[in-house]
Amino acid sequence: MRKPDPCVLVIFGASGDLTARKLIPALYEMRAAGTLPSNLKVLGVSRREKSDDGWRDELAASAKQHAKGWDAAKWKDFASCIHYFAGDAAQGAMYPALADRLREFDESAGTKGNRLFYLSVAPELYEAIVDRISEAELVTEGKRWCSISPGDRSWQRIIIEKPFGHDEASAASLNRALGRVFEEEAIYRIDHYLGKEVVQAMLVLRFANTMFEPVWNHRYIDHVQITAAETVGVGNRTAFYDQTGAIRDMIQSHLLQIFAFVAMEPPTTMTADDIRAEKIKAVRAIRPTLPDAVAAHGVLGQYAAASTEGAYAELAGVAKGSTTETFAAIRLHVDNWRWAGTPFYIRSGKCLARKCTEVVVQFKPPAADLFRGVPHASGGVEGNRLVIEIAPAQRTRLRFESKVPGTPLTIAGVEMQADFDKQFGVQALEAYGPLLVDAMRGDQSLYKHRLEVEGGWVAVMPFLDAMSAPIRKSIASNYAQGSWGPAAADAMMARDGRVWHNE
Ligand code: BG6
Repeated sequence: MRKPDPCVLVIFGASGDLTARKLIPALYEMRAAGTLPSNLKVLGVSRREKSDDGWRDELAASAKQHAKGWDAAKWKDFASCIHYFAGDAAQGAMYPALADRLREFDESAGTKGNRLFYLSVAPELYEAIVDRISEAELVTEGKRWCSISPGDRSWQRIIIEKPFGHDEASAASLNRALGRVFEEEAIYRIDHYLGKEVVQAMLVLRFANTMFEPVWNHRYIDHVQITAAETVGVGNRTAFYDQTGAIRDMIQSHLLQIFAFVAMEPPTTMTADDIRAEKIKAVRAIRPTLPDAVAAHGVLGQYAAASTEGAYAELAGVAKGSTTETFAAIRLHVDNWRWAGTPFYIRSGKCLARKCTEVVVQFKPPAADLFRGVPHASGGVEGNRLVIEIAPAQRTRLRFESKVPGTPLTIAGVEMQADFDKQFGVQALEAYGPLLVDAMRGDQSLYKHRLEVEGGWVAVMPFLDAMSAPIRKSIASNYAQGSWGPAAADAMMARDGRVWHNE
């Protein structure tokens, strides 16, 4: 495994919540684990004036709260690599001074011209900042040589936060803008779900074992459910959320990534190129949802009022008559030989019954039921079920039929579990840490390719654009807080003879 290179991580939008709550705690955890390059510099860029020490103090308070294994001495050691630069990143004026500061780091800390730009700013500023970076000639190697840096060549890479575009057209436009300045190999579209342990563990489960892959197809799998349910509401993020909604916020981004790992073919090797090539194919194999199928394949909802939080539609910052969904459930079909006829149900929502992110692989029942008439605890033989829990527990469960000890012959479902936290006794690290280190190593395996992002938008657009009007028009308060979403989501499953896995 390549070691991370010395570099300067330049965080644009450094005063934001993400830097204090996620990026800096994650980097601190990585430093404590010994995985950061020793000559790393972190330079926060934001408009407010602050000194290096002032910013470090602010970050210390947040890191103490959010990082695992807080230790004042370790923080002091780590914090010495953190610096601050005040300026408006969308305007060209600050860039000559920024370039000087970066060169100083190369001389004083040996960062070798390597730059990892991190755009943690409002999405409407992405293109302007990329253009300013280019005009200031901060990308010296980007268009020519960027992913691998043998010898003394430097590299410049860029990490882009979500939301990556607002729809298919804006995502393609942003990709073009990035592509004018950086090679695809230097563009890191981050998705914190790809830093979650179990998402990577899925590759190991599928491809380091022999017993899953032979049955991982439409002949044996009835359907797949991918759920990201949250108990929290939109809170004070209404300005962002009302422009976004559950499909853009969760499904197009995070859940289609999980989908790709479940649906992809085995890659030829475990390199980023091969893994991403298979994910692209999986996303592109999603059958376009036609206008007359949207109502049967999609359910949208908005949570109603409860004592804890008011109805979504009435929150301050939500447009009057807003039809932005806080819940979405969609059914997708994958048109390839592996999955033909096996639907994928994907759902996500706020204010639901419990926090749970999971993949449910529901196998078909046995071809012939030898046990008809034998007493069964749940009425009859069911197909096996593999539940891959991503959060809050990191656990994989396999349900299968078993004989109940004793006579007469009785059958009941039992479950085998692998609980990763207990089994390996290690706490999951903040997902951003390993992803940042991967970017410093030039490893894009857990970052999204341009075509995955664009393919994801194509797949969800029918549930977002004018075609979604029939399922969007009367969603106000159509589900209770603490429930599993609108009744229509259960009805969609019932029409297919299936039920959501809500256990
Ligand atoms: C973010 C969304 O990307 O993911 C949030 O913007 C959501 O709305 C969050 O709450 C969920 O992440 P996690 O890791 O808690 O499942």
